Amino acid sequence: MIPRLQSLPAELRDPAFFKRCLIEYGESALFIDTEEWLSDDNPYRRTLRPHVFKYLDFSRPLRRDELLTYTGLSANRTLLTIYESDFLLLPRKDFGAKRQDFEEFYSPRLKVLGEIVRPELESFLFHFLGEEISVTGHWTASSLKAYLEDYARSIRQGSDNKAMAAILGSADPVHAAKTFLIQLAGDFLLESSAMSRNILGRYGAIQSALFKVVIDEYGYGVHKTKHSTVFERLLERCGLDSSPHTYWQFYLTSSLLLNNYYNWICRDHSRFFRYLGAIYQAETAFIASCQQMADMMRQVFGADAEVQYFLEHVHIDQHHSRMVLDELIMPAIESFGEGIILDIVRGFEEGKLLGDIAEQDFCQQVRWSDNGGKYKTLHPAIYARIKEGSIHPKMQQFVEPRGELSVTHVHDGDELCHIQSGVMRFVTGHERYTLLHAGEGTVIQRNRLHGAIIDSEECVYNIYSIGDHQKCL
Ligand SMILES: [Fe+2]
Ligand SMILES: [Fe+2]
Ligand SMILES: [Fe+2]
Repeated sequence: MIPRLQSLPAELRDPAFFKRCLIEYGESALFIDTEEWLSDDNPYRRTLRPHVFKYLDFSRPLRRDELLTYTGLSANRTLLTIYESDFLLLPRKDFGAKRQDFEEFYSPRLKVLGEIVRPELESFLFHFLGEEISVTGHWTASSLKAYLEDYARSIRQGSDNKAMAAILGSADPVHAAKTFLIQLAGDFLLESSAMSRNILGRYGAIQSALFKVVIDEYGYGVHKTKHSTVFERLLERCGLDSSPHTYWQFYLTSSLLLNNYYNWICRDHSRFFRYLGAIYQAETAFIASCQQMADMMRQVFGADAEVQYFLEHVHIDQHHSRMVLDELIMPAIESFGEGIILDIVRGFEEGKLLGDIAEQDFCQQVRWSDNGGKYKTLHPAIYARIKEGSIHPKMQQFVEPRGELSVTHVHDGDELCHIQSGVMRFVTGHERYTLLHAGEGTVIQRNRLHGAIIDSEECVYNIYSIGDHQKCL
């Protein structure tokens, strides 16, 4: 039993009841598999691969080394969908044609089912933070201030940015940069929606201080300066679509996790003080990383690359970082006591850890995408061992017609894909794929996002669960 759920009434804790509600939630037409890689200006449709729900176990929380498993991806996609049903999302065009989806997305049926499954998904995903981070010791307002200022100083002195290094070192830096922008888009196109959950209520002067930060994010009501609008411009200049969640299938698990984390701590107001630590960390880290992102953009897309979004944040987040410390954190401790400091430190550390996890996941995905050719060349040797019978992995065979699309997903162990007949486009990112013909195949690395589409009248292929491909070579 997940500890946080013990306070729920027994009926709501029943795993069978959770599963029934999750499956029913997934029965909505909004979440079924699609035949397209991108979603076209429809913020309500997001594929969750709901046909797999019945096989998944969310009852035991993930450990850190399990975060990027299939169940982790599935929980993250579902949880973000539930969270965003609190936000008003409208398409840019053809509302009439999407009206039914709009009604369905905000329907009492989905709202209630989503609320029932939400706590279990949250515990499933975030329980590991309690295990990974322990905050102890005697903290005072002044020791916290020194700790946080020290962090800001270290950020100003500069640190290496592994994600930027991965982009610049990629075999296809434009693709890697776009993959990175897609990860940001999941959050930035709805920028500050999660934090705005803390705007309502009544809690004194710090409420107004937080509101000032939100007003900046919203460009003081001038739409073209709203941060999300500035980010839309950046995406468009890079040839990417700027509607929310066009690239839903290409979000990495860790990008979704980070986005969900802010929603989680902002939606559950008992975690407000944790949020103060997390927002300080985000605003402060952003000062340096936005400069690094602007530099990367110019290197990849040329000197006239659109970087206003990043430069704006290098500037404004110096204020936001200061404001959060002086006008939110310090006054909060004065009003609510030093007992909240451990929460603040916890939020700060959690934000940092999740940022590191996202960075690492991104770097691995860039390598995975870049090495499409290498993974393909590993196929013959492993397939030969299966044929000669020296290894006996579990096998599943699929027969699919032209155009059949396997929605992006991950596997928990390495797999070997072998094409019996026909042609498959094996997809490892937006507009990135390896062609596999009859007799060919590829290793699919565990936890790496991929999908497929059939490029011939029919394709017959086998998937072997090989566990660890190194051991099969
Ligand atoms: Fe912003
Ligand atoms: Fe900011
Ligand atoms: Fe797969």
